[in-house]
Amino acid sequence: MKRVQSLLCVLVLAGGLPLLRPAPAAAEDAAPAKAQENYQTFCRKCHGDQGKGDGPGAAMLNPKPRDFADCANMQKRSDDELFKVISQGGDSIGMSADMQPWGGTLSDDEIHGLIKFVRSFCKQPPAGNAEHK
Ligand code: HEC
Repeated sequence: MKRVQSLLCVLVLAGGLPLLRPAPAAAEDAAPAKAQENYQTFCRKCHGDQGKGDGPGAAMLNPKPRDFADCANMQKRSDDELFKVISQGGDSIGMSADMQPWGGTLSDDEIHGLIKFVRSFCKQPPAGNAEHK
């Protein structure tokens, strides 16, 4: 029993329970549509339709844009980090400067919308679904 408790403790402390976090409230209904539109306009050309970093503009880039569908990578990133890289550009966090700063183009709200949008490319299998491929 003690072991189970400390295990839970570790999980909670590590903040490693993305599956148990409540889904973001659908407060601003217009935001997701706007975020999608912004993504299509500004980001898709490099980051690709599925967020895999394979947009038409990515061919010449080195390093390539990261794969937003890669849950393991994206879960390591805090929202603050994603905000910073989108707002201030890749070199602000030691990534490629090909990722330009968008802070002058997009409002803070729009950037927050895009953070949710790029996170949505990582498709977690539903909890409890033990299906293996
Ligand atoms: C000119 C191509 C290009 C465009 C346009 C572009 N990006 Fe990027 N993006 C990159 C590259 C290159 C990287 C950094 C890859 C590296 O250094 O490993 C990157 C990195 C990122 C990261 C960090 C990923 C991580 O793993 O932490 C985020 C988030 C991101 N871009 C979001 C956006 C958003 C949102 C837009 C649209 C507003 C956008 N990008 C537009 C090329 C682009």
